[in-house]
Amino acid sequence: MALTQSEKQTLVDAANTARERAYAPYSNYHVGAALRTKTGRIYTGVNIENAAYPHTMCAERVAIFKAVSEGEKEFEVIAVATDNGGSPCGGCRQVLAEFGLDTLVLIANGEGKLLKEMTVKELLPEAFTSEHLKP
Ligand code: THU
Repeated sequence: MALTQSEKQTLVDAANTARERAYAPYSNYHVGAALRTKTGRIYTGVNIENAAYPHTMCAERVAIFKAVSEGEKEFEVIAVATDNGGSPCGGCRQVLAEFGLDTLVLIANGEGKLLKEMTVKELLPEAFTSEHLKP
């Protein structure tokens, strides 16, 4: 699967548009994600914080959980946008790994600039997966 620059930019822009809806009154660090499935649908997500801090949910996981809850488990690419090009946390890497090590991850800043791209496998080497649970 080779994405064109324009397809990548479309996803980065969708992540940044979603980012405007982040609910992050505590950290003020707004994150947006846009996940494209193999069927071509795009699911967006934002970080959603909580006064009880540990109940916060990251933007990437919101996008992934929205897709899975709609019956989509095959992902192609996820774009993540933050003010300063922050990369997905360990928990989100693990959740991405659950649905495929080859998913492409695009990391962008708040100006819509694509800064880095890598696969989930590269983001989370030696991932623990369902393979390890097989007898
Ligand atoms: N956050 C994300 O949404 N995704 C990540 O991968 C890293 C962190 C959010 C969680 C919290 O609302 C804020 O960024 C600061 O940690």
